[in-house]
Amino acid sequence: MNPLKGRLKIKATGRYVPEKIVTNQDMEKIVDTTDEWIYTRTGIKNRRFAEQMDTSDLAVKAIQAAVDASGYDLNNVDLIIAATFTPDLKSPGVSNLVQRKLGLGDRSITAFDLNAACTGFVYALTVASSMLSTGAYRAAIVVGAEVISKVTDFTDRNTCVLFGDGAGCVILEQGDENDHAWFYPLAKGDPDAALYVDQYVHMDGQKVYQFAVRAIESIMADVVKASGLSYGDLALIVPHQANRRIVQNASKNLSIPMEKFFMNIESYGNTSAASIPIAFDEALAQNAVQKGQWVMFVAFGAGFTYGVALMRV
Ligand code: ACO
Repeated sequence: MNPLKGRLKIKATGRYVPEKIVTNQDMEKIVDTTDEWIYTRTGIKNRRFAEQMDTSDLAVKAIQAAVDASGYDLNNVDLIIAATFTPDLKSPGVSNLVQRKLGLGDRSITAFDLNAACTGFVYALTVASSMLSTGAYRAAIVVGAEVISKVTDFTDRNTCVLFGDGAGCVILEQGDENDHAWFYPLAKGDPDAALYVDQYVHMDGQKVYQFAVRAIESIMADVVKASGLSYGDLALIVPHQANRRIVQNASKNLSIPMEKFFMNIESYGNTSAASIPIAFDEALAQNAVQKGQWVMFVAFGAGFTYGVALMRV
């Protein structure tokens, strides 16, 4: 496939992270690890763990934050896509629980979940853009939400120090001719099962690392070429927050200054499908990107999946 073209307008963004902060020093008490190992290998200092809240609760909080900040009328929304690999239940989906909790249960709405692991938010943006372009929908909520702590093996130091819980969302409408966007959601088989989740997350970190470095560099180059833009035209790149060193590699190999990549992995660890919308909302709050500027989202994860979304803020 080739990158897909779309037109999207971002009407609102929001995020929510649980209150409980778990530091690297806290992790030292749980497994044989050190703050120094975690920080130098990944860039992580803290993560948040949900207590008595499930994935749909975090998603609703993020959406409420978006509504509170923008005044957006939720009655416009007729599409809800929740990107997650840690749903509250096997069924119904997080999207359906969110619809009910937002008080939109009696409206004619399409709501479904999408699981593309850490690339879920980019996949969900692509699907939302395609559905909005039909003209059948007025507005979409795309929310990435995860409670990864419930599938974390706290005896496995290879994985348990990496992840955190949280949610982030965007509210979208079909854009006009100034709102061009490109989407490139891809997947490659993972022949060695380097990353999968059953009861717990299992990961061969080095294999995932090697895949991630190659994948994000090639897909970013493909989308920039398709769009006719250059890296210099991008105001900000919001990468999936899995490992600072993966992003530093991309920065070096593509000759893009590290300052152009928005990073908040230090505070939250890897929140999978929630990581990009949380980071994007923080970037907007810090004026790291402004209205009308180009922003690129780039992600990779289990599957292997990987993808880019490029749009104007
Ligand atoms: N504390 C201390 N030592 C540790 C820890 C820990 N928490 N975890 C592993 N180690 C040890 C290992 O046992 C190993 O010891 P050994 O040499 O005696 O066997 C040593 O540290 C080095 O381990 P490596 O795996 O080689 O460490 P590496 O430098 O590759 O870093 C990491 C590991 C951080 C996991 C890295 O490989 C990585 O970030 N990979 C990508 C992960 C990722 O991006 N996942 C995203 C997708 S997640 C999703 O989709 C759900």
